[in-house]
Amino acid sequence: SIYQATTSAPVNIACIKYWGKRNESLILPTNSSLSVTLSQDNLRSTTTARADPSFAADCLWLNGKVDPIKAGGRLHTCISEMKRLRAAFEAANPDQPKIASFNVHICSFNNFPTAAGLASSASGFAALVYALAKLYALPQTPEELSLIARRGSGSACRSLFGGFVAWDMGSDDATGLDSKARQVAPESHWPEMEALICVVNDAKKGTSSTSGMQRTVVTSALIQHRIGSVVPSRMADIESAIADKRFGDFAEITMRDSNQFHAVALDTYPPIFYMNDVSRAIIAIITEYNRLSEQPKAAYTYDAGPNAVIYTLTPNVREIAQLILYYFPQAEKVVIGGQEVQAALPEGFNEAVAKRWEVGSVKGLIHTRVGDGPRVLSDS
Ligand code: DP6
Repeated sequence: SIYQATTSAPVNIACIKYWGKRNESLILPTNSSLSVTLSQDNLRSTTTARADPSFAADCLWLNGKVDPIKAGGRLHTCISEMKRLRAAFEAANPDQPKIASFNVHICSFNNFPTAAGLASSASGFAALVYALAKLYALPQTPEELSLIARRGSGSACRSLFGGFVAWDMGSDDATGLDSKARQVAPESHWPEMEALICVVNDAKKGTSSTSGMQRTVVTSALIQHRIGSVVPSRMADIESAIADKRFGDFAEITMRDSNQFHAVALDTYPPIFYMNDVSRAIIAIITEYNRLSEQPKAAYTYDAGPNAVIYTLTPNVREIAQLILYYFPQAEKVVIGGQEVQAALPEGFNEAVAKRWEVGSVKGLIHTRVGDGPRVLSDS
């Protein structure tokens, strides 16, 4: 018989950023983090895993190209951990086929270009772990599987859930078994939460998250203040803002945390710059936009690159897209609610605020929303 499964998994974008490891091999973070899972209707990794006695070795194809599985590397760890779970499952269920020792072939595709500069490791490792879990018919919960996705890439553990997801840092340094993802609220709790990703033109390949955060932990004094005195209360505050659907508070915490993450990158020695002038222009634009209302209506956040992710609620998405297109008219056209967005400035907006930053451009906007966790796809 054929042992095969196909799954897809979503991208997640953190509001409280993970930055820093206290244990490199187990990937245990120096602070807890929290993210929004984005809809797989727009961005996803899709992975097929097959186990077969005729396979000479474990093998992975990423976007059609062989991706070597290095002994002791992250991919290798994830695959061996999943095989170990299958072996335990077979020991407990003697009637099940013995496939834990078969080699596996894994094939994974992202439906978004890596060139867009969008992190694909989170959705990629989540889809891989979930595909193996389905292939092996494992009883483990998403929370338990998040422990293994974490070993692939820290942020991947949060892609095992839809909606709003925390990664609790845990305290067990020997096993890491309490450093796992937890769903704070499902996507149905706040379906009005939408996202506009501004894909910023940028040729340069920057410092990777892995090496960047390593250097931060070794050289930054500011990160100690962040992990000890800032993140713990922010985690509690944003969870309560999400529970009560207080967008203004959610937005302020998200923007402050992005700002502090980039301050910590600058405090690293030598310093790391992830944002560029276009990123800073978008910050100025969103800041001016938020000045027009009593409470913020939009929140920007930036990961380890220049692309902006803007969180907002359904009634404001078009207005914000119009505003971004006003400053970046070269951006590819975008359709929202079946209608192409036209550049426009909101009433009362001070056009001058972002002018001094206007260099470089936005390639395009991706409109998406809060979405669900990993899916099982049919193998037909
Ligand atoms: C800025 O999860 O890519 O996106 O664990 O070394 O694989 P590794 O790092 P990674 O770091 C993500 C950093 C971030 C913030 C976040 O997603 O929380």
